Amino acid sequence: MLIHLQEVISREQRMAIMQQKPHVLWLTGLSGSGKSTLASALEKALIEKGFKVYLLDGDLVRKGLSKDLSFSAEDRSENIRRIGEVCRLFNDAGIIVITAFISPFRADREMARSLFPAEEFSEVFVNSPIETCERRDVKGLYEKAKKGIIPEFTGISSPYEVPINPEVVLQTDKETVAESLSILITHIIPRISLTK
Ligand code: ADX
Repeated sequence: MLIHLQEVISREQRMAIMQQKPHVLWLTGLSGSGKSTLASALEKALIEKGFKVYLLDGDLVRKGLSKDLSFSAEDRSENIRRIGEVCRLFNDAGIIVITAFISPFRADREMARSLFPAEEFSEVFVNSPIETCERRDVKGLYEKAKKGIIPEFTGISSPYEVPINPEVVLQTDKETVAESLSILITHIIPRISLTK
């Protein structure tokens, strides 16, 4: 549901003040696919170009805003609902938001998408085969999940629903970080720049 939250300052005024168009860049993918790495590299690159950007990352949000939530399907949906609403506030403030959450369920991602005008939301599928994520196992979570120590782990004992029509697909098992980053930058710059 599209709601314009702030009525006093118009979106156009806000864009003029911020000197950019707001956008939500929604990264989705398995644990260990490279979401956080790419999201923070992109945040840095855009800030260096003068854009006002904020990164929302799963590991951080789950220590604060969503610390009461588990990894059940229901709680993951609630997690994504909250993130969607936070993104809406940032969007209304005129800020570019990058999100890095597994967000495994299509319906939840579509719900998040529905909060924004079409031209202000991009779904980015950070696509890495589960075998690669397991092999990397940066946080040692796949090993624990396979032993049953961590229940409902995405890709092992909980599903991941692949995006159907994402605006961007990154093959992080084949591309270098610099290559994936460059694809992201090429996608986002025309969407956040004010046309003169
Ligand atoms: S989401 O499914 O609700 O979108 P989110 O992105 O917030 O997940 O959190 C994922 C992070 O939580 C993972 O990167 C991992 O570090 C940690 N985690 C802990 N338990 C699980 C689990 N059962 N499934 C997936 N990730 C988990």
